[in-house]
This record gives sequence, C-alpha cells and structure tokens, in this order.
Amino acid sequence: MRIIIWVLAGLALGGSAVAQSKGDVVKGGRLAKEYCTACHNIDLGGPDKEYPPSFAAIARFRDEQQIRSRIYFPPYHANMPEFGAIMWPDEVDDLTAYIQALDR
Ligand code: HEC
Repeated sequence: MRIIIWVLAGLALGGSAVAQSKGDVVKGGRLAKEYCTACHNIDLGGPDKEYPPSFAAIARFRDEQQIRSRIYFPPYHANMPEFGAIMWPDEVDDLTAYIQALDR
C-alpha cells in the first residue's frame, strides 16, 4: 500500500512538472513560422532591441503567463491579430512553449 501511495505521489509531481510547459515546441515552431514571421524575428538569438520584439527577447523578458496572455490579447497599441480568436488553446500553448525554448 505504501509503495502505491509513493508511486501516485511521484506521478502527481511528474504531472505538475509537465503542466508548467504543456506546449509542443516543434509544433509551436511550425505555427510561429506560418503566422508570426511577417512581423517578428522568431529565431534563436534574436536581438533584444527590435520592434516588434524578437521572440528570443520576449523569452528573456517575459514569463510563461505573460507570453500566453499577450498572444491571446496583444498590447492595445499593436496591430497584431488576436490569435486567441482564431487558434486552438493547444496551439497557443505550443507557441508559448516555442517562445520559451528560445530563452538561452
Ligand atoms: C501584424 C504584425 C504581427 C504579427 C503577425 C504578430 N505579431 Fe506579435 N506583436 C506585434 C507587435 C507590433 C507587438 C508589439 C506590441 C507592443 O507595442 O508592445 C507584438 C507583441 C507580441 C508579444 C508581446 C511582446 C511583449 O512585449 O511581451 C507576443 C508574445 C507576441 N507578439 C507574439 C506573437 C505570436 C506568437 C505571433 C504569431 C502567432 C505574433 N505575435 C504575430 C505584431 C505582430
């Protein structure tokens, strides 16, 4: 019985670690290439000072929540489309994971 409880606890902990970055980086990269390159530099090592900000800079200066919420609700003075209205939540998670993966 005790062993079972430890196994369940391990699964629960493992599950919460996965929940922190629930998106798929590879899918996010594909989406970024298709929908974001018209305006953003989406590459690893993108510059800090650029407008609109490079994804690498966003990765350095924003946390996961901030990134996700700005994809859903772009800053009011941006001409960025509201991707939350046209994408699945999974896709926004994938994009968030892709951007976070650029933080090196
Ligand atoms: C039509 C141009 C355009 C497209 C396409 C676009 N963006 Fe943006 N985005 C902007 C602009 C402009 C800003 C800067 C807003 C500001 O002034 O702070 C921005 C800001 C952002 C921010 C917030 C940056 C910050 O300050 O933290 C995120 C995150 C972001 N974009 C993600 C995306 C993603 C993901 C895509 C593709 C799905 C995308 N953008 C496509 C124009 C665009």
